[in-house]
Amino acid sequence: MNVLEVIKSRRIIKKFKPEPIDDQLIVTWLQAASLAPNHRLTEPWEIIFIGPETRAKLNHKTNFGNAPVLMAVLSKHGASEAEREENAAATACFVQNFMLAAWSNGVGTFWSSIGANPKNRALLGVPDDYDIIGVFGVGYPEEVPDAKPRTPIETKIKHLP
Ligand SMILES: Cc1cc2nc3c(=O)[nH]c(=O)nc-3n(C[C@H](O)[C@H](O)[C@H](O)COP(=O)(O)O)c2cc1C
Repeated sequence: MNVLEVIKSRRIIKKFKPEPIDDQLIVTWLQAASLAPNHRLTEPWEIIFIGPETRAKLNHKTNFGNAPVLMAVLSKHGASEAEREENAAATACFVQNFMLAAWSNGVGTFWSSIGANPKNRALLGVPDDYDIIGVFGVGYPEEVPDAKPRTPIETKIKHLP
């Protein structure tokens, strides 16, 4: 698949096969993710792989679609609120790179916001100077949902003189 095909076919996956993922593949996707744009080369991202014991304690209804791999992606604050926002934006680019690289190898991602829950945050041991961008299930899809339609982009564009 070329880049556009990967972008167009990617979906958030909510049901995974139990099949494990080769560790080296995950490293390859994380390396690709780390090529994301990031202002002042702050590289604000940190990844926590969540093992079964911790996972069982997380407050989540769906068990992340039984994804075989679960990871949290954090973004370090900056010296100011503006830098914190820039870092969060850079980490979102990191995540998108990761999702697209994985998808190009047939592996899908579930994105959960449960990190916002203070209990989950404490369980994951996230320092106060980090945002949790998401908790991600990663695995081979059992089901790939249909595309969710987007608003025609023309309605989001304006031109200034
Ligand atoms: C910041 C962010 C947080 C998200 N949190 C959740 C979540 O908590 N639960 C969930 O089911 N999906 C979550 N998603 C995934 C979106 O629901 C999903 O991208 C959207 O439904 C469009 O589906 P698609 O990505 O397959 O096109 C999140 C996505 C983003 C960017």
